[in-house]
Amino acid sequence: MNPSSAADVTDQTPPAATVPSSALHEIFRAAEAKERQTTTPVLKLHVGDPYFDPPQEAADALHDALRRGDTKYTGVEGILALREALAGKLAAENGLDAPVSRIFVTPGSAQGLTALLRALAEPGAEILLPELHWPVHLQQSLLAGLRPVFYPLGPGFRPDPEAILAAAGPRTRLLLINSPANPTGVVLDARAQRVLLEGARERGWQVVSDEAYEHYVYEGEHFSMASLERDLPQHQRIVHSVYSFSKSAAMTGYRLGYVACANDRTAHAMSVVQEAGIISPSTPIQYAGLAALGARDSVAANAKLVAHNRNVLLPPLCAAGLLAELPAGGWYAVLDVSSTGLDARTFADRLLETHSVAVVPAAGFALRPRLSAAGQVLSLDVPQWARSLVRIAFCGDPDLLPLGVEKIIHFARTCEVERAHG
Ligand SMILES: Cc1ncc(COP(=O)(O)O)c(C=O)c1O
Repeated sequence: MNPSSAADVTDQTPPAATVPSSALHEIFRAAEAKERQTTTPVLKLHVGDPYFDPPQEAADALHDALRRGDTKYTGVEGILALREALAGKLAAENGLDAPVSRIFVTPGSAQGLTALLRALAEPGAEILLPELHWPVHLQQSLLAGLRPVFYPLGPGFRPDPEAILAAAGPRTRLLLINSPANPTGVVLDARAQRVLLEGARERGWQVVSDEAYEHYVYEGEHFSMASLERDLPQHQRIVHSVYSFSKSAAMTGYRLGYVACANDRTAHAMSVVQEAGIISPSTPIQYAGLAALGARDSVAANAKLVAHNRNVLLPPLCAAGLLAELPAGGWYAVLDVSSTGLDARTFADRLLETHSVAVVPAAGFALRPRLSAAGQVLSLDVPQWARSLVRIAFCGDPDLLPLGVEKIIHFARTCEVERAHG
């Protein structure tokens, strides 16, 4: 249910039943329905699924694990060999000092984030999210019983650390950062992260750092906030870091991610949430992940492929006035289609209908829920500025994406001309 008015919700309605499904989910279904109806392939610029494949080593290791019968439960935190390899990766690439006792293998980083927020949530506490965010972050926060507060983004959707700290209320306990960000592509530099960490520490918050796109940075460098805490004793650390095999190793369907908890208290809570939620991550998939970690060349090669798409595909959208600037990182670009006179939803629906191109109305990435005291979503507002925003993914096939971009520009032009002629 996507509640549209408080009248839809009674005292008996479970809060989870009032959490909105995401705009991504809806367009995913619409694109599939369109393909079934017409047999014309839809150009899929809506979904963050890459056109390149996971490393062969991952598939081989998966088969090997299955053949040798490595199919039993593992510990809730995952197999030791993988966690040791992850500790090595986190030290070498992210500057983290994360012992295996605080590393959890999760079925995708989405489940890792869900578990982590459950582990950290205090009843009724507030979490700071960017005002334009991955809608799943909102779902995860609400499902954990947290009350979202949105921090403002400046020009180019860049957050100002001082404005983030100023957005907090007396019940704020958590700050979520996502660099490189979905959907904005913004990369938070070390200076900004240092200011945020100091502010969070002074206010007694914990920080969740979603680094799913860590290997896709085109301007500047990826920076992991938890590296600033590497010399602190564990009980003083507050930054929990979340990573994914989906993007770096193109392993979206394997469902594999990992969480490095800042401290032992959170690691204990995380182990309970994992036990209650999944018992253990899939065993054969963990072996695939271990093998993928050994294939670092493919990570660099994947990053180059997406960087190429960004550099070639996006400039025409800038020239057409639909994109303000190239994203500094990630897989997505946020287009503003206000010149067409259409709101994002109508733009996306008509583009799919008439040109078989799927994009996501990013208005659904800026939902403002109004909550009851019990945490039920009573209504959802969309701020005016977000109503004309559309997200495209540029991790797709470079042989197909240019046609998708061409069709977006053509459709936008047609709408602009129609609008000019009244
Ligand atoms: C910002 C962000 N974090 C996490 C994820 C989850 O990825 P996965 O669950 O596949 O690891 C995604 C997926 O699109 C994402 O965009």
